[in-house]
Amino acid sequence: MENSKHPSLPSGRNHNGHTWQGERFRRNVVNPAVLALTALAGLSWWLLSVPKTDSNPTVGTAGPFSWGQITPSQSLEYEDCFDGFQCARLDVPMDWQRSDGQGTRMAIAIIRLPAKVPVTDPRWGGAILTNPGGPGGSGVAQVLFSGHNLQTIVDAAAVPTDVTVPEHRFFDIISFDPRGVNNTTPNFSCFPNLFSQKNWELQAEADGMLGSSAESFMRNWQRAIALNTGCSQAISTPSQPGADVLGEHTNTPPVARDMLEIIERHGEWREKQGLEAQQNHDKSQGYDPQQGILNRTKWKQDQEKLLYWGRSYGTVLGATFAALFPDRVERMVLDGVVDSDKYYSGVGSEPVGDADAIFDKFALYCDQLGAECPFYAAGGPTAIKESYQELENALLNSSMSVLPSRTRGPEVATWTDLKAVLRIAVYQPLAGFSFLADIASDLLRGNGAKLADFKHAMRSPTCPSDECLAAGPWSTACQVSGQNELYASSAILCSDAEYMQSADEDSFKQHWRSLQKLSNSVGDYWSHVRLNCAAWSVKPKWGMSVPVSGNTSYPLLFVNNILDPVTPLQSAKHMTGAFPGSVLLQQDSEGHCTLAAPSMCVSTSIRRYFQAGELPAVGTVCNADLKPMLGNSSKIEEEYSTRSMDEAVLYRALLEESQRIRTYFPL
Ligand SMILES: *[C@@H]1O[C@H](CO)[C@@H](O)[C@H](O)[C@H]1NC(C)=O
Ligand SMILES: *[C@@H]1O[C@H](CO)[C@@H](O)[C@H](O)[C@H]1NC(C)=O
Ligand SMILES: *[C@@H]1O[C@H](CO)[C@@H](O)[C@H](O)[C@H]1NC(C)=O
Ligand SMILES: *[C@@H]1O[C@H](CO)[C@@H](O)[C@H](O)[C@H]1NC(C)=O
Ligand SMILES: *[C@@H]1O[C@H](CO)[C@@H](O)[C@H](O)[C@H]1NC(C)=O
Ligand SMILES: *[C@@H]1O[C@H](CO)[C@@H](O)[C@H](O)[C@H]1NC(C)=O
Repeated sequence: MENSKHPSLPSGRNHNGHTWQGERFRRNVVNPAVLALTALAGLSWWLLSVPKTDSNPTVGTAGPFSWGQITPSQSLEYEDCFDGFQCARLDVPMDWQRSDGQGTRMAIAIIRLPAKVPVTDPRWGGAILTNPGGPGGSGVAQVLFSGHNLQTIVDAAAVPTDVTVPEHRFFDIISFDPRGVNNTTPNFSCFPNLFSQKNWELQAEADGMLGSSAESFMRNWQRAIALNTGCSQAISTPSQPGADVLGEHTNTPPVARDMLEIIERHGEWREKQGLEAQQNHDKSQGYDPQQGILNRTKWKQDQEKLLYWGRSYGTVLGATFAALFPDRVERMVLDGVVDSDKYYSGVGSEPVGDADAIFDKFALYCDQLGAECPFYAAGGPTAIKESYQELENALLNSSMSVLPSRTRGPEVATWTDLKAVLRIAVYQPLAGFSFLADIASDLLRGNGAKLADFKHAMRSPTCPSDECLAAGPWSTACQVSGQNELYASSAILCSDAEYMQSADEDSFKQHWRSLQKLSNSVGDYWSHVRLNCAAWSVKPKWGMSVPVSGNTSYPLLFVNNILDPVTPLQSAKHMTGAFPGSVLLQQDSEGHCTLAAPSMCVSTSIRRYFQAGELPAVGTVCNADLKPMLGNSSKIEEEYSTRSMDEAVLYRALLEESQRIRTYFPL
């Protein structure tokens, strides 16, 4: 993938010197996550766009890595992959509750970023398992693109001299593709081939989001029925007679059980490393009567504990694990906290109630910035909001023609497109507010080129393989993996939240109207979450009961922004109450998940928690280092650099994560 395909967001004052392109990403791993938008079932880029995958970003001496070259195994057998990472495929039963041992097997794709010290080193702190959210997000992709930064946050200070301090810990970062997602097999697709899928997605984009026109309801509803009926059939058809059915086993509890298996097998693997290292040590330096290495790395069979860091939907996964296996928690950080009870049962308030307050901040900061804000309007924040609303109304009444450029064809800039930019802005204000201001001010002047460029860049062409070309575009040879995350998202969410499957036209319309009332900025968007489950008809074999709660073997650390568009602080408080002893740390910023803005205060707390098990005092509120549009990041970076190299490195990692527009799922 060429970086040049990605549009540059205008570099406002707070991204001095940083571009949106991938040159900042170490290793030669491509960075599909940058600027990939959401992708919900079958809707278009404004809901989700499919990140373009280079199937083989890394070519080593042994040729390009492919997951197919790893034989699935019931123990963890890591192989080198992707330049500096290790990969394994863990063989697990599709149905964890089946007792005859005869069922279908799955191979969970697992990736490991090794710690800066060997597993056998006393300073090795364990493996932190992560989940990026979604549902449907690829943990493999998360570790490839964010693994080094996550490691920087949790590891002891990166300054070389500190590496010798024995009480300092260094961690592996590991993750996996959940069932139905990316490299985990068996996989599925809702389309017979990629061309049908791309056609569908482009047409859905052209039809526009709910609320975009008088016909938008009818068209979106009919699309949902057609897609979801077919898709749930595809995922509930056994691969052979008598086989277990994937769709019945993609929901969250079996994935939590997979995590338990991963940490058990990890213990077994660690002991194996320890045994080898001990033997080498004894051979080269004389027999150690204490057998210190072996002792340290011993597999605590059926007692291994989880170190976990999940965001957004990843907090549902973490809370589910903690409720099902409360005595298996060693450390757990949950960031951007979903109310798991609401998620599983539908009972409780909708989560988008704080989103418009984030848009209000857009107007506020733009006003404070004054004339340097491209969308500034004299008359204070109210005038800016009115001006934006007029723009939305005008685009709703009439879309805008955009002439072709040298790099893209003609386009039409629509209300739906603007709403998509607004949604990014409230999810990631630091990255998105300046972008929104820039695009909106151009549109006011009748210029839709930037919006068209962006829309264009969000699409993800894939070049057909030789096999596909030979067999013809409609053949199954043109199927590729890693393109179904939007549909995987529904496969997981709709079976976790079974109540969403039963919506009829009237009840759905009611739901949609109530969300519109609750949030002007993301109400229409969020109603697509439920629409994507309409006519879905797969019942999970192992459902989750509410409340999701437990007395865990170690207290959890919850972190949440004070203003989050889809996981409000209220949810975080509710979940903190469900796990006695756990603590909620607040970050005084806006956006989805705390990594949306760098906060040295929050990351230092997360580091202390993983390093030493320390929890922040109840009620602690941390500042963010950078405010959207207003802050001067170069200045902050300079200040940290003068204090210590470690702080500068940490700040840099946080900044990088905050500017990465993640592949957008709803959660
Ligand atoms: C799927 O995994 C591959 C690595 O095997 C990664 O490069 C790609 O970005 C992932 N795809 C998605 C959609 O996350
Ligand atoms: C092995 O480790 C345990 C703690 O995990 C310790 O109590 C014990 O003394 C160690 N045994 C030896 C022989 O070092
Ligand atoms: C709506 O669009 C039409 C056609 O572009 C235009 O003539 C009309 O003035 C617009 N109305 C409003 C209220 O903007
Ligand atoms: C499933 O994975 C295999 C092997 O990676 C791949 O060849 C196939 O295209 C994938 N199928 C779908 C439907 O994604
Ligand atoms: C946790 O333990 C307390 C005290 O034993 C008990 O009252 C409570 O019901 C437990 N909570 C959960 C969620 O298990
Ligand atoms: C940001 O800070 C840097 C370093 O202190 C300074 O050189 C630059 O002029 C500042 N930029 C703005 C826009 O204030």
